Amino acid sequence: MISIAIDGPAGAGKSTIAKKVAGTLGYTYIDTGAIYRTMAYYFISRGMDVDNEVSVSSLCGRIKVGIKYIDGAQHVFLGEIDVSDRIRTSEVGAGASKISAYPAVRASLLGLQRDMAANDNVVMDGRDIGSVVLPNATVKIYLTASVEERARRRYAEYTAAGQECDIEKIKQEIEERDHRDMTREISPLVCAPGAEVIDSSDMSIDEVCEAVFKLVKSAS
Ligand code: DC
Repeated sequence: MISIAIDGPAGAGKSTIAKKVAGTLGYTYIDTGAIYRTMAYYFISRGMDVDNEVSVSSLCGRIKVGIKYIDGAQHVFLGEIDVSDRIRTSEVGAGASKISAYPAVRASLLGLQRDMAANDNVVMDGRDIGSVVLPNATVKIYLTASVEERARRRYAEYTAAGQECDIEKIKQEIEERDHRDMTREISPLVCAPGAEVIDSSDMSIDEVCEAVFKLVKSAS
């Protein structure tokens, strides 16, 4: 099986690139951030405190997070409920960043991610794919961009989805999220050993995809 791991900070364009690359190569795209967001959504929608590691950790093993592909698109489920749209808010993103620092949460979601890559050619994006989830991935990429550019992209994304937002606030949230994701004790966001760094600040989507295809070609 071929696996392409794409890690990087929030707003670097991981999902856009991973989706395009997977579509062109006929691989399955797996957005692991959506899995963490689904779990965060469970707690937030029940009014629970995502800062409370003890209660989040004691419940996370019982929460049924699932992934299904509908017309080729990844959908995430909490039990029977499709929550794919509801997880796309900055509140859920920040909550996901918080709960993903808890070892029990990461342990409860690891098997699901590895199982998906075991039976399929995949492009998987996240924070710890090349370092922890798929350390033997065929190609590992660390995709990054300047914080200003990432804030601009998130702003455009939220505005297109009809959400009101403020670009300075988004930039601040991204900086907080980067800090939390990079400094947590377990599986922090790092450039995995053997990963190629791509800085997409001044690159078009097609240019980044081309760079990825080159890496895939030279690895296979
Ligand atoms: O990629 P995203 O913004 O949807 O991810 C939301 C949060 O989930 C991110 O801030 C950290 C966490 N996450 C993680 O810890 N490990 C992953 N493989 C993917 C996401």
